[in-house]
Amino acid sequence: KLLTVTLLSATMLAGTAQARDYETVRFGVDVPYEPMEYRTPDGELTGFDIDLGNALCAEIGIECEWVVQGWDGIIPGLMARKYDAIMSSMTINEERREQVLFSDPYFTPPSAWFVPADSEIGKPNEEALKDRNIGVQRGTLQDNYATDMYGDVADINRYATADDMVLDMEAGRLDAVFLDFPVGKSTLLDSEDNDYKVIGNMITEPKEYFGDGFGIAFRKRDEDLAKKFNEALATLKENGTYDEIFNKYF
Ligand code: ARG
Repeated sequence: KLLTVTLLSATMLAGTAQARDYETVRFGVDVPYEPMEYRTPDGELTGFDIDLGNALCAEIGIECEWVVQGWDGIIPGLMARKYDAIMSSMTINEERREQVLFSDPYFTPPSAWFVPADSEIGKPNEEALKDRNIGVQRGTLQDNYATDMYGDVADINRYATADDMVLDMEAGRLDAVFLDFPVGKSTLLDSEDNDYKVIGNMITEPKEYFGDGFGIAFRKRDEDLAKKFNEALATLKENGTYDEIFNKYF
């Protein structure tokens, strides 16, 4: 009897979770990551991810809320149900696919190396980066890549937020930072002093690191929810809303 009850409630639990109709979707997001997600001077969340996320929810006809969460704990927070999805410029890759279910990619920018304008570092390679201070956001694919490629020769400085890293760059404590290109462009190249440059090529390979674009991450059992977002994304791409949001930030 006990077994039957256990089995039954397990099935019921799985059933409800799958068929659960969300009236509100809470998105976990790590800020600031300008221009993807950041705050206006009066504290309101804004950015490409925020606008696109809100537009997707409006298209689906559900409410959405934003829950600010450090990048470090952003997947654990999803598992712990602090929120229902992650919309935080998270790159779709194999390692993360083992833990979460991704939407279709909604944006596929490259990564790039940023250095001070007067830097002697010509190309990002072992020789040029030897003994240099490199900045990355902890737990990002840029962290993984820089650590695997240059961890033996360079000093990898890992930051909880992209903001702390940019501040250290501005303070002259870093020789190079490795970032999603649009974020480095917005925070360094387009900054007031504009004292920075990109070295080397835009980086999109190897795929094991650089993945398949940014996706919204869901809990694996939320297939229905992911499907709704994929359909809404296709609609927004068709009807021009996606382009409108894109042109506002890029
Ligand atoms: N795209 C990179 C990754 O997925 C970095 C994303 C960081 N996002 C953020 N909101 N801080 O690893």
